[in-house]
Amino acid sequence: MSLRIRTTTDYIEDVAPGSGFLPPRAWYASSDAASLSLNGRWRFRLSATADAEDDAFAEPGFDAGAWAEVAVPGHWVLQGHGAPIYTNHLYPFPVDPPRVPTENPTGDHLRVFDLPESWPSDGGAVLRFDGVESCARVWLNGTDLGTFQGSRLPHEFAVGQLLQPTGNVLAVRVHQWSAGSYLEDQDQWWLPGIFRDVTLLHRPAGGVLDFFVHASYDHVRGEGTLKVDSDVPGRVTVPALGIEVATGELVTVPVEPWTAETPTLYDGVLTTEGERVPLRIGFRTVALTDGRITVNGRPILFKGVNRHEWHPENGRALDPETMRADVLLMKRHNINAVRTSHYPPHPAFLDLCDELGLWVIDECDLETHGFIEQAWRDNPVDDDRWTPALLDRAARMVERDKNHPSVVLWSLGNEAGTGRGLTAMAEWIHGRDTSRLVHYERDINCRDTDVYSRMYACHEEVERIGRGLDGGPLRRRRLPFILCEYGHAMGNGPGGIADYQRLFETYDRIQGGFVWEWIDHGIRDERLGFAYGGDFGEELHDGNFVCDGLLFPDRTPSPGLVEYKKVIEPVRIEDEGADGAVRIRNLYDFADLSALAFSWSCQVDGETVESGPLAVPALSPGESAVVKLPQPPPDRRGGETQWTVRAALAADTAWAPREHPVAWAQFPLSTRPPARVTPTATPVSVDDRISLGPASFDARTGALRSVGQVEVTGLRLDVWRAPTDNDMGAPWQSDPRYGLLWRKLGLHRMRHRLDAVEPGGDALTVRTRVAPAAGELGLAAIYRWTSDGTRLKLRVSVAPEGDWTVPLPRLGIRLGLPGTADRVRWFGGGPGEAYPDTKSASLLGRWSATVEDLQTPYVRPQENGARADVRWAEIGGLRIDGDPEFWFSARRWTNEQLDAARHLTDLTPGDTVWLNLDHGQHGIGSQSCGPGPLPRYFLRAEPREFSFVFSAVDGPK
Ligand code: GAL
Repeated sequence: MSLRIRTTTDYIEDVAPGSGFLPPRAWYASSDAASLSLNGRWRFRLSATADAEDDAFAEPGFDAGAWAEVAVPGHWVLQGHGAPIYTNHLYPFPVDPPRVPTENPTGDHLRVFDLPESWPSDGGAVLRFDGVESCARVWLNGTDLGTFQGSRLPHEFAVGQLLQPTGNVLAVRVHQWSAGSYLEDQDQWWLPGIFRDVTLLHRPAGGVLDFFVHASYDHVRGEGTLKVDSDVPGRVTVPALGIEVATGELVTVPVEPWTAETPTLYDGVLTTEGERVPLRIGFRTVALTDGRITVNGRPILFKGVNRHEWHPENGRALDPETMRADVLLMKRHNINAVRTSHYPPHPAFLDLCDELGLWVIDECDLETHGFIEQAWRDNPVDDDRWTPALLDRAARMVERDKNHPSVVLWSLGNEAGTGRGLTAMAEWIHGRDTSRLVHYERDINCRDTDVYSRMYACHEEVERIGRGLDGGPLRRRRLPFILCEYGHAMGNGPGGIADYQRLFETYDRIQGGFVWEWIDHGIRDERLGFAYGGDFGEELHDGNFVCDGLLFPDRTPSPGLVEYKKVIEPVRIEDEGADGAVRIRNLYDFADLSALAFSWSCQVDGETVESGPLAVPALSPGESAVVKLPQPPPDRRGGETQWTVRAALAADTAWAPREHPVAWAQFPLSTRPPARVTPTATPVSVDDRISLGPASFDARTGALRSVGQVEVTGLRLDVWRAPTDNDMGAPWQSDPRYGLLWRKLGLHRMRHRLDAVEPGGDALTVRTRVAPAAGELGLAAIYRWTSDGTRLKLRVSVAPEGDWTVPLPRLGIRLGLPGTADRVRWFGGGPGEAYPDTKSASLLGRWSATVEDLQTPYVRPQENGARADVRWAEIGGLRIDGDPEFWFSARRWTNEQLDAARHLTDLTPGDTVWLNLDHGQHGIGSQSCGPGPLPRYFLRAEPREFSFVFSAVDGPK
């Protein structure tokens, strides 16, 4: 018989959510009831175990003068006490639910506060915690108030009777691990602490308790119906609508509806005997209509992202400015939806979604993914003992957030397998709120849910689902489909999202998706730049899988976000053929085009020669119209000519200023004449050199040494790129992971055998075979140099030898220029990087950047920074014209150094600027969690030929 030690810490391993707290209710700010923020500096003591210290610290009079201090909200592990741990799905402790390790970092927090003099002496008070990870016990003035679990959910305690005017002692003991940790196995850092606000709320007699705003919209009649149910009866006024009714009373009036595109909110007030509470009412009706999610009678298309709460210094403790920055960045990048992966966010974020307009899938704080390691045995969601905790979590989310018009779906959680507990949650939610739909991705047959949702399905499967050919039970076949996660934005990528978007726009059943994910969870670190899993000595971790966002940790948009913005633009501008016309399609679900101003411009060789406004009718959603472009300018200098048509905001909005770009497209008018070099010069051998026109070569090796005054080193064929996270794929992927295969083949250690240096006639020909040790695969590479006396042309012919079953990472040449080369000017795609399946946002034009600016700072260094469709580039006194267009990159380290680096701070500039002039690049895909690149983006090893023309110029050095 085993004897279990009973201690006062038993609540930590209790599957019940806790004790002593109040029932959940709506989160609101009162107009007139006092409140006191208890955020700020708190005294802090860290213990290694839950019971290392007794609870004497909670007693008034305890002297914590020798303790450290931490900021609340905050995580102690980000404030110098202990360290964060990153795991994707593995529990960082033995799986033996609900037991947790004895080593259970426990933070005692202490705060002494006075009530403001104006604090009313009557009424009660409530102490609210908006988020504490993972389990807390709370004392006020020595009285034990209770305990709670459920990290990202609010908990309130009634404390009125305990308050004194001065010297109130609030003591909170926070345990990193608890039974609740088994329910919080989201892919993110484990970050204990009081990480959201702590607030004392005065509760006046006759004050508001809980209320539910029901505000629907009848799109046929153009009317909204309002009913506010309130625990404490009172009156509801909405002055702009002339509404003045009792709580519980229905009223119908003409209104402007709320949508994510037109987020009309009406200010109202709920008045009870003792309190006034402001309401922000958005009228909208969410429904399933003919197998589609409709809002106000119209199907919607989610152009979404998954958002974890993240700040590179403060972790999940977000300040209001950061939350606003997120919403503004989303709106400015054409994003219209957010899934709050994988827990309810700080409530202020939802206020911003209401105000600025985003569809929200509000997800419950629930994930038990680690049980997959034991074939889901003992999964809490299928064990009745845990059901009260699950229902508590569902209720705390729904009750807190039920008054937000932006929330259109409730999500039961993420990756928690299946089980009765989830069914119970879905039933409870359906019963409590009939005005929204229920989502849960792992409910593969849609037993409990109202949408068929999947993550990372490949294009082909999504297409099958779109066509309704995916089978499955009848209930599922009748439901709309979303990809709650796709486009894994880890490192360079995601690739292929334009191809997904085409499917989303083609098939009615598919109602869009949510890119994984919004922001890299890198932790700012002096030595490493941004730290990721393993950088804190974790015994188990998942490396940089935590950096897979569209924003870098400091919220700089990555090329992935720029690409996404282009792919999901709400207006499509299409070429209408030869006679200079474009078709404009309004892809909004609700808004007409009156908020946009269109313009046209004409470029000759990338330079704008004429531009003007373009009159476009205020098309309704779904409509399209053909609009004529003006006559092209007569003088086109025989150059390459194109139209660019743009749509931008016509006036300031709440989320971006006038002229903020929303959509664009380019159409060729005339193509580019290729750079011709008529070979007139002949190779001349003198001593150890061969000269040809402006160039000088090593006579023995045939290596290019200089072009004019510009010294060149190391010019040779290059097939290697520092594998991207998406090249490397994820361990569970069954498709070939080319990043691994390339390395296995040795493409990072190619040897260059010199077969011949042949000066003859009007050309210098250098024959080589490029191949890795230990295998028979190789590439025959012939460099043929010619010149017209001033310009130098290189034609590279590549022929694969052996049975190449893998694509090449890249194919082109690399060369080194002196380190003084710094500024690059080019005519081609820009301003940012692009790869074959991430080049929608690459805008053809004239661009300029420093070598440093060309680098994309992926948290884990990897291939980056290529510019697409480059016609010519100038750097370091050298001009390079390509035939055909090429991919250009330049860096102050080699691709091998880039490959070896683990953090950005491992990269130190050398004396050489290395250029890659690529004929081809392999696609990017999103295999770090999803499918690899589509076959059409493969760079197959096939015979290829490509040319560059080099000339010395006065341009930028
Ligand atoms: C999903 C999961 C996310 C995240 C992602 C990979 O399976 O829901 O939380 O882990 O994969 O980054």
